[in-house]
Amino acid sequence: MTRLTPHQPARPAIAVFCSGHGTNLQAILDATRAGRLRACVALVLSDRPDAGALRRARRAGVEAHYVDPRASPTRAAFERVLIRRCEARQVRLVCLAGFMRMLSPVFVRRYRHRIVNIHPALLPAFPGAHAIRDALQWGVKVTGVTVHLVDEAMDHGPIILQEALAIRPGETATSLLARLHTMEHRLYPQAIHLMLAGRVKVEGRTVRIADRR
Ligand code: GAR
Repeated sequence: MTRLTPHQPARPAIAVFCSGHGTNLQAILDATRAGRLRACVALVLSDRPDAGALRRARRAGVEAHYVDPRASPTRAAFERVLIRRCEARQVRLVCLAGFMRMLSPVFVRRYRHRIVNIHPALLPAFPGAHAIRDALQWGVKVTGVTVHLVDEAMDHGPIILQEALAIRPGETATSLLARLHTMEHRLYPQAIHLMLAGRVKVEGRTVRIADRR
């Protein structure tokens, strides 16, 4: 008897851009493997040749490339390389996971409302590359994690998910980083799932999430 394979719609392709260790990339990969995130990490791109994220991607059998920003004459030309890579893989959503480079209008226009970023602070507080250090130096009692859509300004687009964390007495940058990472690794796959499920509606700066339980 011929058994028909049940129809399995292809998983939407996502790209993850990273500059560093790639623990968020790992959380995304783990969530797809565990079935918590119905997506296929089709592509990992890094602007740093030594990024741990590239090793994690290759270990998981995911296509991964170092794209040297200095090999392109301008930022726009560099971003067109990123765009071509994403187009070749029919990427539906671009996830920035510790990608320490601002995307210009060239990239943002091409993937408008289809680029997300994770940031280790409660935006709009402490944007930039040193959010954890800056929050501790400011002496805030509460910080947290933000997942947001990317627009042309730094750490600025509409907020999808945000979660707060109380600073403990004697908290250090190391202890805070570890606690924020645990939160990030749970929150980011959730936000990506909501985006891919079409449950994120953007109205100006406000994001409405359909059927959030
Ligand atoms: C993450 O904590 C992410 O929130 C932060 O970089 C780290 C990357 O860690 N991003 C920013 O600060 C963006 N402004 P990872 O490489 O282990 O995922």
